[in-house]
Amino acid sequence: MPNNFLFDLLGPLYDHVISPKETEALHAPLNLPSDGWLLDIGGGTGRASAGLLDSIDHLVICDLSLPMLQEAKEKGIHNLVQASVTHLPFAADTFNRMMVIDALHHMPNQQESVGQMLRALKPGGRLLIEEPDIHLFGVKLIALVEKLALMKSTIHPPDKIKAMAESHGGKVSLDSDGKGSAWVMVDKQAPGSQN
Ligand SMILES: C[S@@+](CC[C@H](N)C(=O)[O-])C[C@H]1O[C@@H](n2cnc3c(N)ncnc32)[C@H](O)[C@@H]1O
Repeated sequence: MPNNFLFDLLGPLYDHVISPKETEALHAPLNLPSDGWLLDIGGGTGRASAGLLDSIDHLVICDLSLPMLQEAKEKGIHNLVQASVTHLPFAADTFNRMMVIDALHHMPNQQESVGQMLRALKPGGRLLIEEPDIHLFGVKLIALVEKLALMKSTIHPPDKIKAMAESHGGKVSLDSDGKGSAWVMVDKQAPGSQN
């Protein structure tokens, strides 16, 4: 089981120390509203996905940290799964939408993790990965601080995340939130579709 001690410790404090997420901005890159199921991977306290409950039929948050998930429960989110992205306990082709907000760089073996995500995404579905843009000086500084704090995180540039998703057959486009985060939007092609 990967080490997630810091988030276990931070769980009860997380929403007090991290600024709230403007979820409205996630509608376009996630192609919402949508029918069906949204999976928030590394979704923690639901900071980013709780505001999307009206834009999807069902929301599931999957996270390694039970204390983080307990905060999501307080927000009235009931579909909570404690699991690592490296072993997602979901059948193939299940979710219409997926999001990974500010979490991929904390996950082990990101190439394999992105493959796990795409396996559980429905053909025709959309995965949004939001990561701090490592090209920015401030983000480089954060990456250094996380290394010094022995957090084992690795922030990859958007092009590298794009290549990871493409290696698993995803069709990828890049954008940014205009506030220092990169958006990697991955569409899972329906079998037999071109491009
Ligand atoms: C910085 S927090 C982001 C939480 C949430 N996405 C947000 O934007 O508020 C990173 C989250 O990733 C989770 N995480 C780290 N490694 C994980 C793994 N291997 N599988 C699932 N979740 C993981 C942590 O427990 C933590 O809740």
